[in-house]
This record gives sequence, C-alpha cells and structure tokens, in this order.
Amino acid sequence: MTPSFGQDILQGLQSVPKRTHPKYLYDKNGAALFEKICDLPEYYLTRSENEIFEIHGSEIAHHMSEFDVIVEYGAGSGEKIAKILSKLPPGTKLPTYVPMDYSPAYLEMSVHSLAKKLPRLWVDPFEGDFLKDEPFQDLNQKLGSNRRRLVFFPGSTLGNLDANEIDALIQRTLDFIRPGKGAFILGVDRWKSKEELVPAYWDSAGITAQFNRNLLVRMRSELGARVQPETFRHEARFNPHERRIEMHLVSDFDQEIEVLGHKISFRRGESIHTENSHKFDEIELIQRFHRLGLKFVKSWSDKNHNFVEVLFHA
Ligand code: AVJ
Repeated sequence: MTPSFGQDILQGLQSVPKRTHPKYLYDKNGAALFEKICDLPEYYLTRSENEIFEIHGSEIAHHMSEFDVIVEYGAGSGEKIAKILSKLPPGTKLPTYVPMDYSPAYLEMSVHSLAKKLPRLWVDPFEGDFLKDEPFQDLNQKLGSNRRRLVFFPGSTLGNLDANEIDALIQRTLDFIRPGKGAFILGVDRWKSKEELVPAYWDSAGITAQFNRNLLVRMRSELGARVQPETFRHEARFNPHERRIEMHLVSDFDQEIEVLGHKISFRRGESIHTENSHKFDEIELIQRFHRLGLKFVKSWSDKNHNFVEVLFHA
C-alpha cells in the first residue's frame, strides 16, 4: 500500500462530486482483472495496439534501437516491449529497458516475463510514480547524463489523466529526455462512437464491473473501510463534451460508509467517479504536444484506425 492511498481516497470521497484517482484501481486483484479485460470481445484497445506492434513493430523497434535507454511509464507486465524489440534482427544492440511503475508487484512480473521472452534484454526496473516529480531526480542519477533516452507510454494510459496532469507529465518527460537528445513514443485510443465505446467499458460478462468495484474491496481490506461493494453498481458513461468514457460506482440506495473513521453519506443514485478514459484526435494531439515542445516524427495505426502510436522528438 502506498502511504497516501487512504488519505487520497478519503479526500476524494469528501469532495463534490465524489471521485478517486484511477491509479488506485490497480492493486494485485485490479491488475489481474485488467488482464482479463484485455481479452474481452468488447475491449478492442489491447488487440488494436497489438495489431500495430505486429504490423509496424520492426519499424518502431528500429526507431527505439537508436537510443541507449527506454523508460516505460506504467510498464505493467512488459509484454509490449518484448513484442517490439524481438522484431529486431538478432545481434542488434538493444537499449537498456527501465520499466517504471509504482507497484513493485508489477515490476517483478515484468522482470520475470522478460527474462523468458527476451533474455538478451538488460532490464533495470525502477519503482516510482511518473505523476510525481521526485522519482525523476533519482532516475536521472541512476542513468547518468550521457545516454540517449526514449520514453515509451503505450496503452492509452494518458487517457486516464486530466489536462493538468498531462501538461505536467509532458513537461517532466521533456526535462527527462532532454531537448535535442530524446524521444517519446505514445499510444492512445482514438475518439469513436458511443456504440463502440460504451460496451468496451461495460462488458456483458461483468468483468469491468468487478474491476471497478474492486476499489471498494481494496478499501475494505487495506483501510478497514466499512462498505458493501455489492451495494454499488458499475456504470460506464459516454461524455461527448469531454470526449471521454467515465466509470462510476453508483449507490443503490441512501447509505453511509465509513473510511478511516470518517462517515461518508450517499444518496440513492449518487456515484463515485472512479476513472476517465479520454479519447483523442490524432491531429489535435500532435498540435497540442507541439506547443509543449515535442516534434512529431511519425505515427502508426491498426487497420481499423482504432488506435494510434505516435513518435515525437524532444
Ligand atoms: C489501462 C487505462 C488503458 O482506460 O481503457 C479498462 C483501463 N478501465 N477498462 C482504459 C480500463 C476500464 C484502461 N487503461
């Protein structure tokens, strides 16, 4: 448990409207449920991005191989980097791979799976939250100043952040990769219709509902919160004005829960807003990042144009 988990959750539940940061959905259970989501017929994101790595992987790998170090934000199981780098001809010098995650469980998983999938890759895991400044000071020290750095941020995790978090993250990333030296590869989901988006976040097998409700399960086991997860139902809301899908946990009736000794009351139908998944327009994204100091180099998409992977130079 991160020290701020309880305080952060409590603060979110005391605000109006009630909300929690999506990073808290990923404890061990949450991570396992997310893996299941990736295999759901309705959840096209992971398949679309994998298709990009299948079709364009060797080209992406070629760009990556021009750098000395690859840092992946929220690396998860490390499957993506293995898929890409294994497309390089044998004997090509591989960059050092630094998976960055605030969950040690995830880092351990990525080290193990990469040792099997790509044994010649040097893996140097780094525990830290890429939404904060401090970890980057340690990371700078660890890497030394000579090596050319590339940051890899796939999976549309960017979509979970709000506008301020995105601006701060890009600034932090630019400082880290250093103007004139580094690169950034970002994978994001494209804006699409309600008919395609809602089922992807509200599947018929109920796995996403379980993933969402796991936040309450986690609050109960880690914080000793008094709450019955079954009394909140999952909802995925389409928000075209903000171009996003929102996950909510909606209270079935008027009730009170208790977190760290604080009582929190809900009206029937009132929700906790647990996640945003923003969707992007490629051109708008490129223009926005250009203003922040990132130059567009190239982008790759799947056949259905669901998803896009974009390469920028600092
Ligand atoms: C891991 C952030 C890409 O927003 O699509 C999946 C998380 N939430 N189903 C996403 C998620 C609900 C996912 N990301």
